[in-house]
Amino acid sequence: MSKNVNIDWSKLGFSYMKTDFRYISKWKDGQWDDGKLVEDNQISISEASTALHYGQQCFEGLKAYRTKDGSIQLFRPDQNAKRMNDSCKRIMMPGIPEEKFIDACIQVVKANEAYVPPYGTGATLYLRPFMIGIGDNIGVKPAPEYLFCVFCLPVGPYFKGGMTPVNFIISEYDRAAPYGTGAAKVGGNYAGSLYPHALAVEKGFADCIYLDPLTHTKIEEVGAANFFGITKDDTFVTPVSPSILPSITKYSLMYLAKEYLGMKVEERDVLVDRLDEFKEAGACGTAAVITPIGGIQHKDNFHVFYSETEVGPVTKKLYNTLYGIQFGDVEEPEGWIVKVK
Ligand SMILES: Cc1ncc(COP(=O)(O)O)c(C=O)c1O
Repeated sequence: MSKNVNIDWSKLGFSYMKTDFRYISKWKDGQWDDGKLVEDNQISISEASTALHYGQQCFEGLKAYRTKDGSIQLFRPDQNAKRMNDSCKRIMMPGIPEEKFIDACIQVVKANEAYVPPYGTGATLYLRPFMIGIGDNIGVKPAPEYLFCVFCLPVGPYFKGGMTPVNFIISEYDRAAPYGTGAAKVGGNYAGSLYPHALAVEKGFADCIYLDPLTHTKIEEVGAANFFGITKDDTFVTPVSPSILPSITKYSLMYLAKEYLGMKVEERDVLVDRLDEFKEAGACGTAAVITPIGGIQHKDNFHVFYSETEVGPVTKKLYNTLYGIQFGDVEEPEGWIVKVK
């Protein structure tokens, strides 16, 4: 692709930008059509679509990375495909074959190659696959038809001037019910998070932390990211619960902590009253890889981990390892990278 786009890569944040092509495939009568790339970024659907009324929709988020030699790669897209299929199952939507999901991502990246930021800028091409229930329907039941789309946009590095810790506050609200849809990437979970997020920001915090919805004693999610803590004896600890979204970044960090950094790894309860067991803590997800947690406000208590201004050494090492793999500078575990070109 020889097209040139006039983008100041250093100024990119996380804002919508229309790129040239998106992939769309439709499901009807029990099967997906072949799917195609289209230029129009508007979707026309029935006013009675289940996605509009009953929240029958789910989405994913992953990135394409430009490497030093100019090639482009995706990070574990098979894991996004699997998670999307788990989300689909939970809300009774047809799954999408893994090969079709990955092929759609590759087609979209190739068609929008001009928008893949150069290596060294820290910027990436963010891909947003999503599926919605469409067609004429009024009762609360699964839609008669579905639309699967993947669009993309360039996004800046999460941390512009280097990694910096941020502070969070424990929310009194829940993002999901104990055995509800917390483990699925469905829009309703995010609609429910907008208000608690706004309250946290109003109080001067980056975002809120959700506790387990049943007992409100255990940490679950940090905004739209998973939590991890590093104990004083260098164990990577992360909570386990049926209402946490299984973060691909988190499971990748767990693997790297164990296999690359020789750490112990535990998935277990993290009690909000026992934060002093951790010397470092972070939030992890595709957007930032890791956001170091400076401190957490819980009722009248403000607990600081490593520092409110400096990043802890273990957090930094984990970040560098995963970031290096994503941009092709560190050798990846087998099967983690899919080359686009
Ligand atoms: C609620 C929630 N938790 C965690 C994550 C992190 O998941 P991942 O590492 O797959 O981006 C995300 C982002 O997708 C999220 O929306």
